[in-house]
Amino acid sequence: MNDTNELTKKTISRRKLLGAAGIGLGALPLMSTQVFAAANDASRPPTPYLASTAEKKLDIISLDRLQVEARGAIPKAGYEFVSGGAGDEWTLRENRRAFNDYRIAAKRLVGLSSDDIDIKTRLLGLDMPSPIMVAPMGAHAMVHDQGEKDTARGASLAKALYCSSGASNATLEEIAQATSGPKWFQLYWNNDIQVTRSLLTRAKAAGYSAIILTADALGP
Ligand SMILES: Cc1cc2nc3c(=O)[nH]c(=O)nc-3n(C[C@H](O)[C@H](O)[C@H](O)COP(=O)(O)O)c2cc1C
Repeated sequence: MNDTNELTKKTISRRKLLGAAGIGLGALPLMSTQVFAAANDASRPPTPYLASTAEKKLDIISLDRLQVEARGAIPKAGYEFVSGGAGDEWTLRENRRAFNDYRIAAKRLVGLSSDDIDIKTRLLGLDMPSPIMVAPMGAHAMVHDQGEKDTARGASLAKALYCSSGASNATLEEIAQATSGPKWFQLYWNNDIQVTRSLLTRAKAAGYSAIILTADALGP
């Protein structure tokens, strides 16, 4: 999400936030949301982090309006966590800009029905009704107390591929149970081969059909 006022204020990236909280990626996937509350001040004892438990229907008109609603519903630390990008947030800005390269052209009165529209695709042997997938994103309990379980449930309802982050608050099994749709597991390779092996074994048993190997955070 893009917000120029927010951009100037941000000083901490997601990965730095985890690091400041004393969370090496090797400690993942289970992270305590309590720790995040103290992430910016090591001398402060962890205080309970109260993510939203609210549930309501959202009328999504635009990303900008959704961002305003999100800011009102998510604790400040969680909002900063999900709305920020790495480094000077070049990718975040570029991603939002790039969406504008494509426009949705309404086709009316040309005899086109929804049955004529086929956006199926095949990816690594997986037949997908649309080329839409949820990128691996961790620590959803910063946003809502149901964390990744609800995100995975939403992906399933949208028939989208869910890429489960190795930095999730929910266990990979809980996430797998929450979606009946296709799912991949993002692995943070751990120097302790037993930890890595255990994660891979559990992911396979839980029904993940592919592994996303994280190349920029190897062997923490
Ligand atoms: C809140 C949040 C958490 C993220 N957590 C992870 C993560 O745990 N692992 C990971 O590889 N990428 C993580 N990412 C990065 C995303 O997977 C993705 O690469 C990034 O949002 C850019 O996506 P885009 O190029 O599709 O817009 C996270 C992104 C966000 C916004």
